[in-house]
Amino acid sequence: MIFTLSRKLQSLPPYLFLEIDKAKRKARAEGRDIIDLGIGDPDQPTPQYIIDALYRASLDPANHRYALDQGMSVLRRAIMAWYKRRFNVLLDADTEVLPLIGSKEGIAHFPLAFLNQGDYSLIPDPCYPPYKGGTILAGGKTYLMPLLEPNSFLPDFKRIPLSILKRAKIMFLNYPNNPTGATAENDFYKKAVSFARKNRIIIISDLAYSEMSYDGYKPSSMLEIEGAGEVVIEFHSLSKTYNMTGWRVGWARGNERLISALAKIKSNIDSGIFSAIQLAAASALEGPDKHIKEMCAVYQQRRDILVSGLKLLGFQTSNPKATFYVWIKAPKKYNSIKFASMILEKADIVVTPGVGFGRHGEGYIRMALTVSSERIKEAIERLKKI
Ligand SMILES: Cc1ncc(COP(=O)(O)O)c(C=O)c1O
Repeated sequence: MIFTLSRKLQSLPPYLFLEIDKAKRKARAEGRDIIDLGIGDPDQPTPQYIIDALYRASLDPANHRYALDQGMSVLRRAIMAWYKRRFNVLLDADTEVLPLIGSKEGIAHFPLAFLNQGDYSLIPDPCYPPYKGGTILAGGKTYLMPLLEPNSFLPDFKRIPLSILKRAKIMFLNYPNNPTGATAENDFYKKAVSFARKNRIIIISDLAYSEMSYDGYKPSSMLEIEGAGEVVIEFHSLSKTYNMTGWRVGWARGNERLISALAKIKSNIDSGIFSAIQLAAASALEGPDKHIKEMCAVYQQRRDILVSGLKLLGFQTSNPKATFYVWIKAPKKYNSIKFASMILEKADIVVTPGVGFGRHGEGYIRMALTVSSERIKEAIERLKKI
């Protein structure tokens, strides 16, 4: 018997990484030595002090039960202290923060809280795919804001038609940006906040990469901008900062109205985060910043090797100031999927085709700095030969 998929599921964008995934599996099965620059997943282990905290917490039977929906007070207070230390922004740990089962979970669920059928989400393009998925699953419509190189991969709010603005309820922004590696400064954030206030739009600011930055650059939080508290909800993740992608823990920070709406959605869907993970996350945030500095130094060295190597080979790219992504123009004769496939076939290197992140990612590929410097050097040697 064949059951028809829901219209919402049918209208989700196709998974454009399929061809590359298939080719990658085939190459691996053939025993080829693949260098995988495709996945944005740190290759380093979680710091030991966090693993120790998880172990200790997992021994306590009180932590084996259902966790509270709004997250443990210890974690919410650790987030509050981290925010104060990192951005000098104050928050009420009881009402303005919500731990999440990874920030993806909260980002994808948030549209359910504010979109009605046919309302618009303003979405950067290219982007992290759940912005579109979450909008469509909530019955919303997507309006794509092109991120173009001449505009430093920032959206141009003036280009959004009034007819769309009237029905737009939420807008996603993500700096430091996946996949372009672009960053945003406070003057852009000020424009975004005033645009959102004027048009009564909620900004979902995705700060998953706030701690991964180089050359002394420190990304700021949109919540540092005056008036942002009314319209901005910010999403953070422990995944990349502490090499904890598999642990599934992050948080949302916003005013009480935005946070309680997301909490209500979640209370109907999940039953909180394993308490031992919450306690380990709290120790992560309270721990020394030493390992974050070391992590950034490792990625910075890899970035320098990759970008200088690519430039010597004639590729058009630039040094990202943050994130572990390098965004590279494909030569004119290829589209992004063909270029990525060619690199896999001829050099046994996996890269991500830009079009997988949206129409305006066409013409680019993304490389992730998630293999050692030696493997990056090897990748450059292989690219010389294609
Ligand atoms: C831009 C962006 N936001 C959010 C996430 C999700 O992170 P997590 O769900 O692991 O917290 C990712 C993961 O790759 C990402 O690239």
